[in-house]
Amino acid sequence: MNQSTNQPINLSQTSPLGGATLSGPFTQLLTMDNLPLRGKISDEQLAIIPNGGILHKDGRIWEVRNFEKLRKENPDAKVLFFEGENVCLPGMIDVHTHICWAGSRARDYAMRLAGKTYLEIAEIGGGIWDTVQKTREASVEELAKLTFEHAEKLYKQGVTTIEVKSGYGLSVEQELKMLKAIRFANEKSRAELIPTCLAAHMKPKDFDGNELEYLQHIVENLLPEVKRQNLANRVDIFVEKSAFSIDDSKYYLAEAKKMGFDVVIHGDQFSNNCASLAAEFEAVSIDHLEYADKKEIEILSKSYVIPVALPGASLGLGERFAPARKLLDAGCSLVIASDWNPGSAPMGNLLVQAAILGAYEKLSMAETWAALTCRAAKALKRDDIGVLKKGNKADFIVFETGDFREILYRCLSPSVK
Ligand code: NIG
Ligand code: FE
Repeated sequence: MNQSTNQPINLSQTSPLGGATLSGPFTQLLTMDNLPLRGKISDEQLAIIPNGGILHKDGRIWEVRNFEKLRKENPDAKVLFFEGENVCLPGMIDVHTHICWAGSRARDYAMRLAGKTYLEIAEIGGGIWDTVQKTREASVEELAKLTFEHAEKLYKQGVTTIEVKSGYGLSVEQELKMLKAIRFANEKSRAELIPTCLAAHMKPKDFDGNELEYLQHIVENLLPEVKRQNLANRVDIFVEKSAFSIDDSKYYLAEAKKMGFDVVIHGDQFSNNCASLAAEFEAVSIDHLEYADKKEIEILSKSYVIPVALPGASLGLGERFAPARKLLDAGCSLVIASDWNPGSAPMGNLLVQAAILGAYEKLSMAETWAALTCRAAKALKRDDIGVLKKGNKADFIVFETGDFREILYRCLSPSVK
């Protein structure tokens, strides 16, 4: 499925020199190539290769086309034969997770079911701070193991690239511990883990100072160390009443950008007006958007910021969904991620959540698949995943059905190779 990748291939070379593998035949091979990166997509726009095959070597794709033709032209290639009916797609990409955590917030969940809100629970000692305390108590090895286990669960669902945020350490030392745990988990994981520094998740309760002073402390003492140790090149901030104001966020985003980080924003989850902040600071993505209204959508449609819907958080909190249909109709991109975390999105099943969002928001299957593959790759600024084409990672997943529509319809799991 997700093979180890060496150097990029020489694209001008026409065939591999030996040692190549031919995977297939796939009843339907969906490359996700040549789809628009913004706006609506109909299922008819999907490039589906019938009886397709993938020729790959050292983890890179050489050719994607009819299996029999590839077999005739490459008689020396080792064949990885897929019996029966199969659909092949690029590995899914989860661009927003918090899977590095310790402890459980089942108590919070029960309180929410009894009527308390996420923000009320945070005020009475639950919420993010509860997870921070448990995560701080865990050793880097314990955290790496927990992160690895969460990544394995996603990998078995067909998620081969997973963004992972820190944000439950909330001190210089503890945030570095989390980022190192993510690095260790990545070394063992079959999925590729991409770290993001979310030290700006909330002001920790034991910090002696206000929100802006906490952000200044992070800018001066943590971010340079994250850079120096090459622990992440992405920085995230939670912009919300319970976390950081727009003005404080402006300071932080400007400083992070000056240091060369890509920035992303948790925005419009419970209230709105983060779209112009995201546009002004050229955030790669704005994630959540449950409360984004017409004005917010219009601002995003005129920017390059990628909207990321997190249906798992809507389900975990019993909240509204992000206006995915309206975003697409306005000409925005749309990515769907799990937000898997112990608080707002405890369920951790990307495909099921995407299928549910699709049903409520009337997304075409092509729009949902693009949101999990080719469009998701852009939210991580990656050109080598999310599309099955020459030069890209040989990162594909296979489902035991002859019709791609069955996958979202029945929420199938891939057969892991
Ligand atoms: O994306 N909104 C802020 N952060 C997470 C929740 C983290 C938590 O509750 O532990 C989210 O929903
Ligand atoms: Fe999140």
